[in-house]
This record gives sequence, structure tokens and C-alpha cells, in this order.
Amino acid sequence: MTKWLPDVSATSDPIYLAIAKAIVADVTAGQLRPGDHLPPQRELARDLNVSIGTVTRGYIEASRRGVIRGSSGRGTVVRDPTAERPDSRLRHGGGTEVVDLGTNLPIHGEDPDLAQAFARLSRQRGVTRLLHYQASHENPRHLGAGAVWVRESGLEVDPDAVVITAGAQHALMVILASYAEPGDLVFADELTCPALFEVAELLRLRVQGIETDEVGMKPDALRRACRHRTGRALYCMPTVHNPTSAILTADRRRGLAEVAREYDLLVLEDEVHRHLAPDAGPPISEILPERGFFITGLSKAVAPGLRVAYVAAPPFAREKLKDAVVASLVLISPLTLEIATMWVEDGSARDTADRKRAEAEARQTIAREVLGDHSYRSYPTAYNILLDLPEEWKAGEFANEARRRCVAVAPASSFTVPGCQPPEAVRISLGGAESRVQLREGLEVIAKILADGRPCRCTRM
Ligand SMILES: Cc1ncc(COP(=O)(O)O)c(C=O)c1O
Repeated sequence: MTKWLPDVSATSDPIYLAIAKAIVADVTAGQLRPGDHLPPQRELARDLNVSIGTVTRGYIEASRRGVIRGSSGRGTVVRDPTAERPDSRLRHGGGTEVVDLGTNLPIHGEDPDLAQAFARLSRQRGVTRLLHYQASHENPRHLGAGAVWVRESGLEVDPDAVVITAGAQHALMVILASYAEPGDLVFADELTCPALFEVAELLRLRVQGIETDEVGMKPDALRRACRHRTGRALYCMPTVHNPTSAILTADRRRGLAEVAREYDLLVLEDEVHRHLAPDAGPPISEILPERGFFITGLSKAVAPGLRVAYVAAPPFAREKLKDAVVASLVLISPLTLEIATMWVEDGSARDTADRKRAEAEARQTIAREVLGDHSYRSYPTAYNILLDLPEEWKAGEFANEARRRCVAVAPASSFTVPGCQPPEAVRISLGGAESRVQLREGLEVIAKILADGRPCRCTRM
């Protein structure tokens, strides 16, 4: 191979990312082949007229994307996944490392450039103020960024409608702590996000599951439930539901809004996955501005470690929610809130969300290739799939068998509202794998378990 030298002159990406992307593109196009050596980092840095740190980060990023590996003494080489697989810990089982396809992780290989954000922060005047006590969640710039993000998530709002929380789960906490009493009833899909269970348990609320179909919650089923028992709130995920990935149609959204109004329910509309299907139907909170709490945030679109979410709250609730934020946390970390604001303002948050969606789509294609005709529920850009198991399997046993073979998946019981029957299904999080190569390996283990069938448990008489 002639010396590899990418053209990064016309890129709008940070240079390290452009280098990583060029490597991935050239591997995909066959210009770089398994076993090819990339130039030593110092040499490439000199040829591109960038710092060696930039090249190092580019190589690390490409390695996270699964296309190259560094081996001491041999420099950086293009990986050959087929040659590597027989040695893989996954093939042999019994290893200690686990491929995490059990946690709903937002594809960390596509996270934004934190080092660059810190470098920018360090040049800000008065940056040490970020270490002080302050009403960070009242800062007009932070609220402005919140309004931008809520608007990008589909709901028109002004900054004064926004309440900033430390993640979407904290949003559920402050809303329900403010407006529900112990013993109150919250309606939710039969399968729902475990964040709700944790909050409900702490606040001693009851949760009742409402029947759903492939589109999501059925308004008629909600109405029947409301006739029998007085509910305080409805929790729903209209766009790319966790774990089913269902998207409510516009009709369903209107139907649920109608029932919520009729039975005086507050609506907690969790839209943390909206970036995965930006054109989904109208927010329920747009139909119900007087009772809809529209929750969106940066955990799934940008990075969960930021702990930043935005609630577009109805007018009556704004001050009380802000008080609840102060009571529960004193302040949202000004440091991460500043970074979040910077990324929303300069478009990095949007770019990251777009990249994550594109990567999710590529991972869905891998899932389809590996799992073939096995039945599962998902959406073409969702982070998760919910795999229906053949009759012989119980979901818990299947998850244990996968774990034995070093792959973590989550049984549907983890998402099932108490009192409802969990389906024999497991959620597989495509975003958890560190690279596409690792994802394929993990999914191949799942496919193998399905092909092998359930081990016979019969004992000899
Ligand atoms: C639908 C949904 N809502 C909320 C959360 C919690 O998000 P956060 O990290 O912002 O608290 C999750 C986490 O997986 C989720 O899937």
C-alpha cells in the first residue's frame, strides 16, 4: 500500500474526528485492507500539520469504531474481524468481560469532543465561577439553550417555560414529588421505562399498566382504567418507546390527550428518544399545554454523564418545579450545564444526535443481518430491539444463558409494570456495544443461543 494520507482540509468536523472518519471510510471502501499499517502518529501529524495529540485521538476514535487496533511493537493496523473472532472471549465463553447489550446506552463512540469543550471553557473569562454556588438553572443562557433543544425536539416554547433538571429521571422525580401524594396512581404502558418504577417506589406511588399494541398505548384501555380508578398522572413515551421502540401515531396522541383531559390527568411526556425519529407526530403537550410536561434531555441524544434534561412545563407548575430542583439538588452542576449549553448553542448537540441516529441505523442493519428471520420489535433508527423468544425459552433463563456466554441482555420483566404479565422477550441494546464489530459478535452469540435451543434440563429417573 502506498503511504496513507487522508484529505482533511475541507472538513467541518474536528480534525481528529475527520481522521477517524477517513479511516473508517477507507476501510469500508477497501482502500485500507485488513493487516495494513497506518502511518506512525508522529509522521501523520507532521504530514497533516496537526499536533500528535490530534492524530492519537483520531486513532483512538477509529479503534473505538472497531476498524483498527494498536499492537505494541507493530504500530496501528487495520483489523481483520474474521481472523480475530476465533480467539474472541465470546466464542469460548467463560471469560469475565461482558459485552453490554443490556443497558440502554446511546452509542458512546459518537459522543461529542469533551477535550475541545474543556479547552474552550478554559479560555472563558471568569471560568472559575463554575465552581461556585449559583442558580445555574435560572441562567438565561442555559434556559435559552433549553428552549432551543425543546424546539428541536418538536415543541415550540419560550425560555421561561423551561425547567432544567439533572436528567429525565430527575424530571420525573421533581414533577411527581410536586404533584402526587403517596398512594396516588400513575398510568403507564404495560412495558415501560424502569426509571418510572424507581421514582414511584421512592415516592410511594402506585403504577398501573395500560394495554398496548404495536403502535403503543390504547386510548380506550386508558379510558376504561380511568373509569375504575382515579389516576393522578399518565407517563408515556410517544416517540421510540423504551423498550418496544413503538411510535404513537398522531391519532393515538390525540386520543390519549382527550382521555387525559377528560379525567384530569397530568401527562408526563418522555421524549428523550425524539432525535431518533424527529418527524414523529405532534407532542401531546402541544395538544394539552395546560397539563403536559414535555421532558426531553441530552442523555440519549448527546451524553448521559452530563445529567441535563429540560422540561417544558405548564405555567402553573414552573415555579414549584424550580423549587423542587433546589430542594433536591440545590443546583444543577454549573460545569456540565455550561458544556451542555455550549454544545446546544454551537450545534454540536444537534450534530451528535444526528450522528448517533445514523450509527443506530447502521447497527439496526447489522441486527437484521445477524438475527435474520427471528421476530423482534424495533424501529429502523432505534437503539434497542425487543426480541421475542421461541416458546421453549423463559426470558430470565435466556438472559442467564447469554450472560454465561459473556453477553448481557435485559429480560422484559425489568420493564413490566407490577401486576402485568411480562412477555417472554429480551431487550437488546444496540448502543451498548463499543463498536459495530463487537455488536456483531454479541448478536452472533444471541443467534447461536437461539439456534442451539434451550439446553435440556431433564434428569434421569
Ligand atoms: C425513555 C427513558 N426516559 C428516561 C431515561 C432516564 O434518562 P436520564 O439519564 O436523562 O435520567 C431513560 C434511560 O434509559 C429512558 O430510556
